[in-house]
Amino acid sequence: MEKKKVMIPQLKEFKQQGQKLRMVTAYDYSAAVVVNNTPIEMILVGDSLGMVVLGYDSTVSVTMEDMLHHVKPVVRGARNTMVVADMPFGSYQAGRKEAVRNAVRFMKEAGADCVKLEGGLTVLNTVKAIVDAGIPVMGHIGLTPQTVSQLGGFKVQGKDVETAKRLIYEAQQLEQAGASSLVIECVPAVVAKLITEQISIPTIGIGAGADCDGQVLVWHDLLGMFDRFVPKFVKQYANVNILITEALIGYAEEVEKGLFPADKHCFGIQDSVLKTLY
Ligand code: KIV
Repeated sequence: MEKKKVMIPQLKEFKQQGQKLRMVTAYDYSAAVVVNNTPIEMILVGDSLGMVVLGYDSTVSVTMEDMLHHVKPVVRGARNTMVVADMPFGSYQAGRKEAVRNAVRFMKEAGADCVKLEGGLTVLNTVKAIVDAGIPVMGHIGLTPQTVSQLGGFKVQGKDVETAKRLIYEAQQLEQAGASSLVIECVPAVVAKLITEQISIPTIGIGAGADCDGQVLVWHDLLGMFDRFVPKFVKQYANVNILITEALIGYAEEVEKGLFPADKHCFGIQDSVLKTLY
């Protein structure tokens, strides 16, 4: 049976029915096709692209053009999977008009189903403006990597009374502003549970415990393809780097020894043609 694409209004139904939502990042067509053939409901084309694909030290340098370039092939590969496009740093900070214009580009030029943007109280008006323009928004609170220097590093957020209360309030306000789901990143599990209980839109956790309504992991973390650092919240379900390295070494050795290509990998011509060549 063909997988059925989950649509935005169904997200709340998942929560009401206690059915977990599964999201993974992807950045290209071939990865999107693989995800599309699994039961995973959502793909996030995250600005983590900057670190795991483009090799930057943070997500700050990622541009709208970088994101559009990667959202487009993912949409082409993921016909039955919701695609969420991450708004990069600088694409929604300069004003509501520009934020709406950039969100529209993700929908119109790339074919995304939803956009995601980071922040709490400071982005409420922006979220509302994008939602009012008819574009679904996924919020993102807790550790927000685009403002990591302001947060003082990649640190767990909401560990004291004041910041935990603020996260709960931000989540409620983002729901009020029209967000249809909410990523919670690097927050104590009990705080993420409280947030999840106090809003009616689904929470998608990353480093936020098992009581969120769904989970998200970065492709390269989940598959063991990024080992510059492995955060505590990551589970590597495979170590694809080892497989790829073994394959590349095997290829290099066989080329060196003249074992590849073998006859079966080569094209022939008719003897009559061959004779005329000598
Ligand atoms: O960019 C990204 O991949 C993200 C996830 C970590 C939620 O924002």
